[in-house]
Amino acid sequence: MKTSIIKIKDNQDRSDQQKIRAAGKIIREGGVVAFPTETVYGLGADALNPDAARKIYEAKGRPSDNPLIIHIADMEALEQIADSVPPLARKMAERFWPGPLTMIFCKRDVVPMETTGGLETVAVRMPRHPVALALIQAAGGYIAAPSANTSGRPSPTLAEHVAEDMEGRIPMILDGGAVGIGIESTIVDFSDEIPMVLRPGSITPDMIRKVTGDLRMDPGLIEENSGVRPRAPGMKYKHYAPRAELILVSGAQDKVQEKINVLAREAAMSGKTAGIIGTDESCGCYGYGIVKSIGTRYDEETIARHLYGILREFDQQDVDVIYSECFSAPGIGQAVMNRLLKAAGQRMIEV
Ligand code: TXA
Ligand code: MG
Repeated sequence: MKTSIIKIKDNQDRSDQQKIRAAGKIIREGGVVAFPTETVYGLGADALNPDAARKIYEAKGRPSDNPLIIHIADMEALEQIADSVPPLARKMAERFWPGPLTMIFCKRDVVPMETTGGLETVAVRMPRHPVALALIQAAGGYIAAPSANTSGRPSPTLAEHVAEDMEGRIPMILDGGAVGIGIESTIVDFSDEIPMVLRPGSITPDMIRKVTGDLRMDPGLIEENSGVRPRAPGMKYKHYAPRAELILVSGAQDKVQEKINVLAREAAMSGKTAGIIGTDESCGCYGYGIVKSIGTRYDEETIARHLYGILREFDQQDVDVIYSECFSAPGIGQAVMNRLLKAAGQRMIEV
């Protein structure tokens, strides 16, 4: 299959609107189109068409028990697919939609089991990106979309990343340039009485608590090593992983830099190429390997934005091992560490 890669800015001029109509037509006819959202690129198909949903799993090589998020463009659509929307979830929608928040509800019958991976619940998000919103409307109102990477690889933050994984597998990629946030939406489950965070994202627990009061964290998230099964099926898989072995080093900043220098030197001595993930502040103090800055510690959003791109760059440079600093911070840093730990298969050295 030939994949057309179509540049698009937003939904303002006639030419962009035409492109969105063409992409919407592919989805209405049961096909798959990759498109930008404010978090990461999505791989979209008609959420209410079981055959279309199956095509997504096929293109991604994704296990079919891992449910998809349905993307909507207005609240009316929510009522059609969610069985009951609790008042707290409505308040959340008012505060954070359109935006990087996914909420889970009991599903209505129109939502096929193919979309929900066999679950009786459905994940719903109203994205903020103008291309995503216009495409949802052009496609009939309900787009099922996982991140547009091959299952297990880092999520795509550029159309080029999507092309790396999906070229030849889908008919169209809408190229809206670099995404703004860079890590996937926060997922909050509203199918039980007390809301529960199933996946951290740029909307943090503190921000959510201001709206909901009570909030629980999925125990499978907190004790990542304890063998508790996470509630979001996708969180149990090794995920976001680069091809090289990734090892995190945590501790006081000067000790971390010292340790990474020792490890990278050892790698060089044994004929391996090491990649190092540092920051604008620290990159200058590394003496071995290929050193990349992920962003600045003074603006943790820059770190989220570059995380997946950096992992893919190291793949292309064929490094054997990657050593990374840790970036825990009260805001989006929680989500960054959640993804990094998964990408590293939980391998972390404490100094
Ligand atoms: O930011 C995002 O959410 C991006 C963009 C494209 O919107 N999408 C995304 O989709 O990250 P995906 O498929 O890569 O991740 C969806 C996660 C998976 O971990 C899945 O298991 C979980 O959401 N999920 C979906 N439906 C669920 C449900 N009914 N119950 C529990 N977890 C669910
Ligand atoms: Mg994903």
